[in-house]
Amino acid sequence: MSTPHTHDRFAPSEEFSAHAIAGPELYEEAAADRLGFWADQARELVSWSTPFTSVLDWSNPPFARWFHDGELNVAYNCLDRHVAAGRGERIALHWEGEPGDSRSISYAELTEEVCRTANLLTALGVGQGDRVAIYLPMIPEAIVSMLAVARIGAVHSVVFGGFSADSLRSRIDDAGAKLVITADGGWRKGKVTPLKPAVDQALAARGGAGPQETVEHVLVVNRGDNVIDWVPGRDLWWHDEVPVMDAEHHPAGFPAENPLFILYTSGTTGKPKGILHTSGGYLTQAAFTHRTVFDLHPEQDVYWCTADIGWITGHSYVVYGPLANGATQVIYEGTPESPAPGRWWDIIEKYRVTTFYTAPTAVRSFMKQGREIPLARDLSSLRLLGSVGEPINPEAWRWFREIVGAGTTPIVDTWWQTETGAIMVSALPGVTTLKPGSAQTPIPGIDIDIVDEAGAPLPNGQSGLLVVTEPWPSMLRGIWNDPERFVETYWARFGDRYVAGDGARRDEDGDVWLLGRVDDVMNVSGHRLSTAEIESALVAHEFTAEAAVIGADDETTGQAVVAFVIIKSSQLEHAHQVADVAAVLRRHVGEQIGAIARPRDIYVVEELPKTRSGKIMRRLLRDVAEGREVGDTTSLADTAVMQTISSRLRH
Ligand code: WT7
Repeated sequence: MSTPHTHDRFAPSEEFSAHAIAGPELYEEAAADRLGFWADQARELVSWSTPFTSVLDWSNPPFARWFHDGELNVAYNCLDRHVAAGRGERIALHWEGEPGDSRSISYAELTEEVCRTANLLTALGVGQGDRVAIYLPMIPEAIVSMLAVARIGAVHSVVFGGFSADSLRSRIDDAGAKLVITADGGWRKGKVTPLKPAVDQALAARGGAGPQETVEHVLVVNRGDNVIDWVPGRDLWWHDEVPVMDAEHHPAGFPAENPLFILYTSGTTGKPKGILHTSGGYLTQAAFTHRTVFDLHPEQDVYWCTADIGWITGHSYVVYGPLANGATQVIYEGTPESPAPGRWWDIIEKYRVTTFYTAPTAVRSFMKQGREIPLARDLSSLRLLGSVGEPINPEAWRWFREIVGAGTTPIVDTWWQTETGAIMVSALPGVTTLKPGSAQTPIPGIDIDIVDEAGAPLPNGQSGLLVVTEPWPSMLRGIWNDPERFVETYWARFGDRYVAGDGARRDEDGDVWLLGRVDDVMNVSGHRLSTAEIESALVAHEFTAEAAVIGADDETTGQAVVAFVIIKSSQLEHAHQVADVAAVLRRHVGEQIGAIARPRDIYVVEELPKTRSGKIMRRLLRDVAEGREVGDTTSLADTAVMQTISSRLRH
């Protein structure tokens, strides 16, 4: 079986291959001795204060332990060792603020700032295993905070700044955070978007009958000079506390399986899952993939990953991978259109960025704005492009390579997840022949398969479920507070294989094509959203009796959230007095979850299509939302429902 796209191939140039970090032998080495291969990577790329002797302990699946008798300090690996090796003057971060302010921070300076902050955390009573919530914009203090938490063996839980006070509260509660690090606000679209008020609200809404208050302090960075409320005793200014701390801090070694962070992500139920990652295996795979997939030559490259630290991409490919490898990178606070379209290209030109990692949704929105904008800049420094978050459609792939990559740069399309911690399937630049739209090949040391519903491996050409067949170093170690959900969600189905939740197919060459989620998880602009979570936000509003949410195809964002709601009959009159019910509900979802979850469309309907057993048939709603002929309705309890809904929407 073949598809038109599989005929389009781009072999690596000789010039690129000649200098490439990765070579074909990596696949052979890993195939010959998988665990030995990972042990080699762990020894070469990571410094251990106590060397490990055990590589993998899989005696209690699915709970893996990697390198578990070894000890390391993750922050030391990202900082001090580069300084000790005489590379302290190398720039770690070129930070670009949205209003045009900037700072270039060397490894020596970053190390010092992290040490001071680590000393402050200790002074505030934060110790090994304690949880710290981080709710910050993309400013250097965000990275400093994560590394300071890691340095003392504590656990960070970064909450994306776009999440609401309610989402922040549930994450603080679930993790039992002792400290929250935030800012007055961050620059977005030309103004300072407040953050501190959401923290105040999240903490005020608690107490009483709620969960026990665990937060002792709120550390606040002054980013935007916003006027904010202040709780004396609880709240502390970063600029008062951090600079007076000692710049020396001893990086103690912690066990390889010491928890490093929790990161919440949407699942198929209403409650986000706290994905737990630990230290040694995570750092090994983050560093290995960052080095080989992005062909990092740390003395020459300027690397830029556009992800926010609120997502896993920001954890693995802004913080831990690049810094462990001693890379020089760019971080940018704001939005791509501030103050005008082309800001990202200006940044690439300004810092001579060589390696640029972003999301298909961004590429598609640049395509819409027109090629003149990037073509007006000097992007000649770029030599490698990367894509993550959702399948990149071949058109966007070609545009990215032609217009941004001068028709020559390789593109690595990297498939992975919050749960996998690091890249799992990707091209290796200079090694593999690229195909627009295919994520290609499991990286060396990773074993995947594509199986049918019963778990039987499928031949090339057939679509099925993507599973990971062997444990991997950066795999999630569990779901915070919920070991059963961990087993149930990823392992129960086939026992010994990890079920990713994605559909996939291999082509005639064995290259992997991702086909999107197979569960009730949507992918909007590369961000994961759960239909159930948005439905429960909708029904929490007094107007709503019932709600069904689907992800409908969207030209720019990949999928868009579309909601169908039934208004309670007791509320009909009230709802009609409100000028725009949909607008009220959209705002409500924004408050409950965050702006990213606000539905693009909300349709008020009288009934929802249900099977006789009461299950909502989302497939039919998707047909309507995407403007298709409605599919087979024979299993509906009431076959007329879809007619009513369709006629309503085609006004
Ligand atoms: C889901 C994971 C991995 C960091 C960003 C998202 C989809 C991710 C690709 C890709 C096709 C992709 C999958 C996956 N996805 N990268 N290159 N090609 N699909 O992390 O929020 O945990 O979402 O994103 O559906 O399961 P996440």
